[in-house]
Amino acid sequence: MANLREPLVGLEIGTNKVCALVGEFTDDGTISFIGAGLAQSQGMRKGEIVDYQAVTESVRKALAMAEREANVEIGSVFLGITGGGIQGIPSSGTIAIDNQEGTVTGQDISQAIAQARKIAFPKKHAIIHACKQRFFVDGGAAVAEPLNISGRMLRADVLVIHGLHSRIQNAVRAVRDNRVEVEDIVFNGVASSLAILDTESKRMGALVMDIGAGTTDVVAYVAGGIHYAAVIPVGGDHFKNDLALGLQIPPSTAEQLKKSQGRVDVPGEKIKDEIIPLSQESGFFPQTCSKHDLYVIMRARCREIFEIIRDELKERKLLDLIAGGIFITGGVARTAGIFDLAKEVFGKSVELGMPWEFEGNMTITDTPEVSTAAGLVRYGFRRTVDKLGTSRRGPTSFWSGLLPRRDPE
Ligand SMILES: Nc1ncnc2c1ncn2[C@@H]1O[C@H](COP(=O)(O)OP(=O)(O)OP(=O)(O)O)[C@@H](O)[C@H]1O
Ligand SMILES: [Mg+2]
Repeated sequence: MANLREPLVGLEIGTNKVCALVGEFTDDGTISFIGAGLAQSQGMRKGEIVDYQAVTESVRKALAMAEREANVEIGSVFLGITGGGIQGIPSSGTIAIDNQEGTVTGQDISQAIAQARKIAFPKKHAIIHACKQRFFVDGGAAVAEPLNISGRMLRADVLVIHGLHSRIQNAVRAVRDNRVEVEDIVFNGVASSLAILDTESKRMGALVMDIGAGTTDVVAYVAGGIHYAAVIPVGGDHFKNDLALGLQIPPSTAEQLKKSQGRVDVPGEKIKDEIIPLSQESGFFPQTCSKHDLYVIMRARCREIFEIIRDELKERKLLDLIAGGIFITGGVARTAGIFDLAKEVFGKSVELGMPWEFEGNMTITDTPEVSTAAGLVRYGFRRTVDKLGTSRRGPTSFWSGLLPRRDPE
């Protein structure tokens, strides 16, 4: 039974790290973090499991550490899901309002959303969310909240986010094999956006790009609802691999170089070239590299990610509707010059996206890497609040629009 007194856990199995965050719901309605577990991810590539045993072990380590730190026994988690193939498809469901009063009920809303979920999507895929966008009663103006409005027909517009069933199942099993239940799965992009965005920016239109080691999880809000969701299977590991290949250096040197000396905001023709010494253990590899080459390689990869997202948003006519802000989060948000490059590509100002309005004595929550896990905890508490029926926004709140998908197994 849902209970707000129990601590709740968000778990991201990332390409680079597994992060388990334990949060408590405080009396003043905020979320306070009481423990975190971080483990180096083994066996993940581009957000997907490539070595099941190694991943299960990384999950075990992160959960054990979070248990120790929070002094709790973890029985279940809200699990983040990513991986190539996750997509959002817009859909609508229309139903007749069929009660004596002739007003929209909570059940009508659920039925219209259920109708909208019945769409054709790729075989072997499963629905992760059906996110409410807007409603229409008898073809009138769009409304965000149709409850108690009089009419005869109700139409729900939603974004159905779906992903490959087997990939979702593998992530769930890696948790369950640690004798921990999965309460619900949440697309990482949705989770990160919940950690970062306030209601106002969602209403004005906002874009969140969580750029991790293996994937870029993207979510765009328009008028308070999610209108775009996607995973681009490119992240910080690709910067590293490009540098290793282009500069003929080992991946470990490339990883360190990109963090300590890399930047992405200076175009090739404006770079004053310099020789950068490299701390190479083996004389087999070059002992220096060109600053010009370093910057050019990183900028090209980063630009490519932004251009893909920009073009997709343009194609869907969503880019102009984003007035509340563009936010970059995830570890790659630390790359020098990334906001200026994004501004150049999107033509709008871009900021660092950080988890907001969380409490607790933990430096870990002040980092862009934990946005997904923090958002998972917020999602979990919102769902608990809705389940308990104590939400001031009522049962048709945004949160219940993110319908829990069926248990993937
Ligand atoms: N200072 C920095 N400059 C550039 N890149 C950085 C910096 N710090 C971290 N990164 C990169 O951030 C990435 C890790 O980010 P994050 O922890 O968000 O990934 P993840 O959640 O494990 O992966 P994913 O979500 O893609 O599965 C790595 O590629 C790392 O190199
Ligand atoms: Mg991540």
